[in-house]
Amino acid sequence: MEEFPEPTSKALSRRDMIKGVIAAGSVSSAGYLFRASAVHAQASAPGSVERLITLNVNGQQRRVDVMKQETLATTLRYKLGLTGTKLGCDRSECGACTVLIDDVPHYSCSVLTHTVRGRKVLTIEGLAASDSALHPVQQGVLDEQGFQCAFCMSGFIMATVGYLKVNPHPTRAELAHGISGNLCRCQDYDKILTAMMRGAELMNGSHGTNLTGVTPARRA
Ligand code: FES
Ligand code: FES
Repeated sequence: MEEFPEPTSKALSRRDMIKGVIAAGSVSSAGYLFRASAVHAQASAPGSVERLITLNVNGQQRRVDVMKQETLATTLRYKLGLTGTKLGCDRSECGACTVLIDDVPHYSCSVLTHTVRGRKVLTIEGLAASDSALHPVQQGVLDEQGFQCAFCMSGFIMATVGYLKVNPHPTRAELAHGISGNLCRCQDYDKILTAMMRGAELMNGSHGTNLTGVTPARRA
């Protein structure tokens, strides 16, 4: 009868090596899992906030690193490069930072970015159509040349676009009241209102009429 040779030290060391690799893998996996669970536990610890989030801005999904105390105006301007949103007072007084959140105008300087996760944010950069055609309210500004320095312009436009969603056919007085949360340091209110009314007219397709009673100073 043939006898099996005694296991050599070389064969043993090979088995030992394989066992060692398996064991090492288990240890590594355990270590990875442990680290992962530790990270998860850290992220879900009371008071902690996930910083890398996805925002819906101007119809695009934007990944961005956001601190828990960060305002939407800061995120838009300094993280996403959307500098059309202006910062005037940074404390809910001037309206320069107005954007639409789910179609409603908000002061983005006073909205925490984390609170708009899952909501639709629209800034002045997202108003024009995909073929670059201006939004009617933007066109109204061009038609009427309604601003002086125009620092307040994007806020006024966004506030007007938001207001027209709830009152598409405003009187001049109604629109003035509807966008009264926006201030203009140049105090160009009459011309601004005329421009916004022109935008409302354009939205309603009444291009040939002038409900403002003011002759538009069209561009050459
Ligand atoms: S900058 Fe937000 S209201 Fe003035
Ligand atoms: S046009 Fe200058 S702040 Fe309004």
